[in-house]
Amino acid sequence: MRRKMIIGNWKMNGSSASMAEALAIEAAASACPAVNVAICPPFTMIAAVASACPAITIGGQDCHSAASGAYTGSTSASMLHDAGATLVILGHSERRVGLGETNAMVKAKVEAALAVGLFVILCVGEALDVREDGEAVAFVVGQVRESLPDESPSRGAGLAIAYEPIWAIGTGRTAELEDIARMHGAIRGALGNEGTHIPILYGGSVTADNAASILALDQVDGALVGGASLSAAKFAPIIAAAG
Ligand code: PGA
Repeated sequence: MRRKMIIGNWKMNGSSASMAEALAIEAAASACPAVNVAICPPFTMIAAVASACPAITIGGQDCHSAASGAYTGSTSASMLHDAGATLVILGHSERRVGLGETNAMVKAKVEAALAVGLFVILCVGEALDVREDGEAVAFVVGQVRESLPDESPSRGAGLAIAYEPIWAIGTGRTAELEDIARMHGAIRGALGNEGTHIPILYGGSVTADNAASILALDQVDGALVGGASLSAAKFAPIIAAAG
């Protein structure tokens, strides 16, 4: 069995006042050594959280595809690494939909992040109308194919895929267990030989109440958690459910 990964995505939340939560999450992670725990705070907190919480993985929530240059407001993969991050979330639907990121843009970011040794969480997921049209599997498999770099020996060791149906993010609505299993199986199939060692996580309204049943699915290697990762009290039971 693969070691489960529980990744907290703080989105645009958190400030120096949230350091106590980060420390409490680190303590909860230390109590579950069989689980790989990461938190992805906003850029402004990465260096501080990385130095205060050495027992957990710290990640960014995005990076630019270029190494450096005239890109006002952007952060490169090597800058994340320099600040203490070892992981980055890429292709989140809030960036794909809200900021117009295409599969090609996401792919360039994935390549940039892997090149500096960051572990990539590549997010994919369909909108509600796509699911209602019966196109969810084809859409998501297409995103996976078009957002991943061309096969390389290092690619599999350095990334995970997070399936996050857009309609389940922040809504309190999770996908049906059988739909999660079917989608993860389809993604794994699309990955071919690499499918056996690339972790596939589920995301979208994961909470202490539903984590155990989602994480018990054969095809689910962990969870990407938004809202419930902001407080250690809500995040700790999810970490424990993965242990
Ligand atoms: P949520 O967010 O857990 O608040 O639904 C998940 C995500 O967007 O990664």
